[in-house]
Amino acid sequence: MRLDKLLAHTGFGTRSEVKRLLKSKVVKIDGQVAKDAKVKVDLEHQIVTVFDEVVEYREFVYLMMNKPQDCLSATRDRDYRTVIDLLDESYLIYDVAPAGRLDRDTEGLVLLTNDGKLAHEIISPKKEVFKHYRAHISGELTEEAVKRLESGVEILDGNNDSFLTKTAKVQVIGPVDDLTAVEIWITEGKFHQVKRMFASVGCKVEYLKRLAIGQLVLDESLALGEYRELTDDELDCLRREI
Ligand code: URA
Repeated sequence: MRLDKLLAHTGFGTRSEVKRLLKSKVVKIDGQVAKDAKVKVDLEHQIVTVFDEVVEYREFVYLMMNKPQDCLSATRDRDYRTVIDLLDESYLIYDVAPAGRLDRDTEGLVLLTNDGKLAHEIISPKKEVFKHYRAHISGELTEEAVKRLESGVEILDGNNDSFLTKTAKVQVIGPVDDLTAVEIWITEGKFHQVKRMFASVGCKVEYLKRLAIGQLVLDESLALGEYRELTDDELDCLRREI
């Protein structure tokens, strides 16, 4: 990456501010003063410092967040806070975005990354990566309804056309207060898909949380709104699935 781009990306100002830094001889590559804004640097093999502080930059960043309710899995919004608003400033330079969407009132696992290829593959129904949810539902969920949910139900899309959901796995956990806790694994991510699947069998989702994306399981030690970087093992597992 070009030196001026690197410094601009890592918060050292606009390109012209970076030029001024270079002129003032405070930027060094491997201990040598750097003057050329266009010079290519490779942080795998070189050390860049500004005022003797090492510049750190990674191409890709992967974060898992426990999304709270009343927060959009979008990058910006006029009316609501977004998952990006919850990030520390130090992550903003990486331009991460949520891989797939959760509804505003859905909690749980959101993967945030600037690795567009990985994000795309995780979402793609062709890759059949399971998304695992816990739902608390009202209404009676019969055994027959569970079988229908598992084999595929017709749900309406926005244009009054209907489509058949792909096969799913459903496990009834038991009663919670006056609702029923159910876990469901689906490989698609259509708008309100889980809610509409349960609606198609006469039930209403009152609470929804995503627990996992494939083998990537939400770290339950993360409070709502908290996030952390994926470990190397978690990332490897995710990569193996796509
Ligand atoms: N299905 C839904 O209905 N909502 C979500 O947020 C995710 C899946």
